[in-house]
Amino acid sequence: MEFSALIRNASREAHSDVGSSSFMSDLLGGRLGVAAYRRYSEQLWFVYRALESPADALATDPVAGPFLRPELARLAELERDLAHLGGPDWRSGLTALPATAAYAARVAECARDWPAGYVAHHYTRYMGDLSGGQIVRDTAEKTWGFDRKGDGVRFYVFESIANPAAFKREYRALLDALPVDDLEKQRVVEECKRAYALNAGIFRALAEEFRLSA
Ligand code: HEM
Repeated sequence: MEFSALIRNASREAHSDVGSSSFMSDLLGGRLGVAAYRRYSEQLWFVYRALESPADALATDPVAGPFLRPELARLAELERDLAHLGGPDWRSGLTALPATAAYAARVAECARDWPAGYVAHHYTRYMGDLSGGQIVRDTAEKTWGFDRKGDGVRFYVFESIANPAAFKREYRALLDALPVDDLEKQRVVEECKRAYALNAGIFRALAEEFRLSA
């Protein structure tokens, strides 16, 4: 089986778990206030800082390098959204939940020591953003009144990717060409499951913080 199919199949259950987490369901159900969306976006900032700050160091890496496409970079967009949500001072109150700090630390560790593991994290976030992320954007625009594809939801808008379906096909081809052996591929799949679990941890913490008083 091609590696792109293998990793997708192996993470299907983890994907449906995060998708049906109570925080995501409440968010997508329009049941949460904009404060929850802001807090979630703030957590993403720590995750994407960990994903994107090692980009230069990994650019020439034979395993991770091909995945580092500039059109995927999200940090600048996220910062515009956070400035919109939190005002010019948005950085001052920014705190990572323990679950977020753990996630960012794991991404940084992989970036430093294990490029193939970094690919697992890259895949889990960016392919998700290109896919289900669009559903989050649509909901956020409708629920909190952001301009379509404007400030507040720029994180979900890939201005430089005109054809996301084609881009995802190319991304899967890169996965299929990953220059590592089968055992290492299995480890990458496990790291992908770990990435989902780390995302689930953030969702659990956010669900605690924004418990609906129903
Ligand atoms: C409720 C929220 C979510 C919805 C509705 C959703 C929806 C989707 C959909 C429809 C696809 C298929 C797109 C395609 O085949 O081209 C997809 C793919 C994907 N999603 Fe999600 N998703 C959600 C949350 C997440 C989260 C939280 C993550 C991880 C952090 C994630 C990671 C992925 C990945 C990695 C893929 C690519 C699978 C592949 O084709 O290899 N998703 N998502």
